[in-house]
Amino acid sequence: MAATRNSILDDPFYQPADEFFPANNKIGLTFDDITLATLFSEILPRDTQLDTQLAENLHLHIPVISADMDTVTESRMSIAMALNGGLGLIHYNMPERQQLSEVSRVKNHVHGLIQEPIKVSPEQFIGDVLALIEEKKFGFSTFPVVDENGKLAGLLSGHVVKPRYAGKKVSEALTPRAQVHTVTKKELGRDPIARADKFFTEHIGIHKLLVVDDDDHLHGLITMSDVERITQERKAQFKPARDAHFHLICGAALSTTRNAFGELDRARILSHVGALVERGVDVVAVSTAHGHSKGVGDTVKVLRDAFPKLPIIAGNVTSAAGVEYLADCGANAIKVGQGPGSICTTRIVAGVGIPQMTALYVSSRAAARKKVTILADGGITKSGDIVKALTLSQAVICGGIFAGCNEAPGDIVEISGKLYKQYRGMGSLAAMKAGSAARYGHEKNSTQKVAPEGVEALKEACGSVDRVLAQLIGGIQSGMGYLGAANLEQLRQKARYIRVSPAGQREAAPHDVVELKTGN
Ligand code: XMP
Repeated sequence: MAATRNSILDDPFYQPADEFFPANNKIGLTFDDITLATLFSEILPRDTQLDTQLAENLHLHIPVISADMDTVTESRMSIAMALNGGLGLIHYNMPERQQLSEVSRVKNHVHGLIQEPIKVSPEQFIGDVLALIEEKKFGFSTFPVVDENGKLAGLLSGHVVKPRYAGKKVSEALTPRAQVHTVTKKELGRDPIARADKFFTEHIGIHKLLVVDDDDHLHGLITMSDVERITQERKAQFKPARDAHFHLICGAALSTTRNAFGELDRARILSHVGALVERGVDVVAVSTAHGHSKGVGDTVKVLRDAFPKLPIIAGNVTSAAGVEYLADCGANAIKVGQGPGSICTTRIVAGVGIPQMTALYVSSRAAARKKVTILADGGITKSGDIVKALTLSQAVICGGIFAGCNEAPGDIVEISGKLYKQYRGMGSLAAMKAGSAARYGHEKNSTQKVAPEGVEALKEACGSVDRVLAQLIGGIQSGMGYLGAANLEQLRQKARYIRVSPAGQREAAPHDVVELKTGN
């Protein structure tokens, strides 16, 4: 019978993590220093599962998170990440109220039920409605009509919202209340999308369903196109990451805010996170360069006490002691990475930081003991790096890979015929200045670092997040197929490593050819 199991002949060369990393404990290793050995496989890449549980209440369908950086993640990026099954962490280099509205934008994106539909009154003219559409750039022209008491008076259909009727009143043009299809909140039940889907199938040509209460006050609108999109999503392999109410999930980062005396500003931190929770935030990330510090630990403790069920990410650390400390303070997921980022200069400026694979191994063993998860943060430039990182972590955080995407904040600039977007470290001078100005209303913040630890850079524009993630996910699934891993747990269990020589690194990339098209 053909051998499908490991051979002892391989064992001295290709070692599991607990043998490989301790055997290499005198040197810090990163992604390109190692490679993974293949194993017998019955797993087709397309059948692999990428679901990952980061905390009791935080489940992603792909293990990829966009970084909390001001040139990477605001609401557009966060929506794109969640629609693909991942998570976006909205950065904090902006005033608190702006961060709240960024979170709201994500939470209210393409929900089956539009909770606060735009309404018109019977007394308005069609011309007013046309002007409203023009001013607000609405992409729709059908509106519920509500009287001065908030009661449903009818539906103004897009067919009559035309310049030729501009002088007519809404009350003359509306479809009367008796002919409008409605459902009560109670009738919607636990699965409003299924209920609405059934309704639209049974009512040919009807595309809008209004939600009312027992007194006929309007409480929402369900459109057939939203229902169809959501029903379609339910069939996709990588479903959008949604909360229990079917809203996209969203994270928000925060710093260890201090008052004028340099003390932790507990009241401000609590009111900020309280407001984020009210907006529906699914996870907060206490995000700093040095997570194994009293400020981060105390912030996590304050939040854990006030919000016992809220998933908390904290970091960054690169040691077992750092993981244990943040876990004991109450963090659920710990960010690992000091200095690997593509825009980071921490290792050059401060002389500290650990190459990422060694940092991940050490951290992962502490995380397993403490029953927390770890996130590999920074230094990822290709899908192969993600596969390697996922052998030791539950998800990866990427900045540079997404900074050139359409959904990242900032404009595209053209230089010598090529298109770029700005990408900068959060510890760069420009980002620190912008953050202080936004959060404190002035350019100087006494707690800010004096020496910048990040650079300002450009990334080549690279299209949509969907496109970039499709490539990354394809690579992750391919790696899992090579290791015979059906899911991420099996990937972590099965991984075997070997170090790569400089010649081996050269061999790994295209060589001795004139490259016509790059691999990506
Ligand atoms: P990548 O490699 O994905 O890294 O571009 C993104 C991660 O880098 C970290 N980060 C910084 N690290 N100085 C640093 O030393 C900085 O200015 C800086 N800005 C971001 C952060 O962990 C991010 O997720």
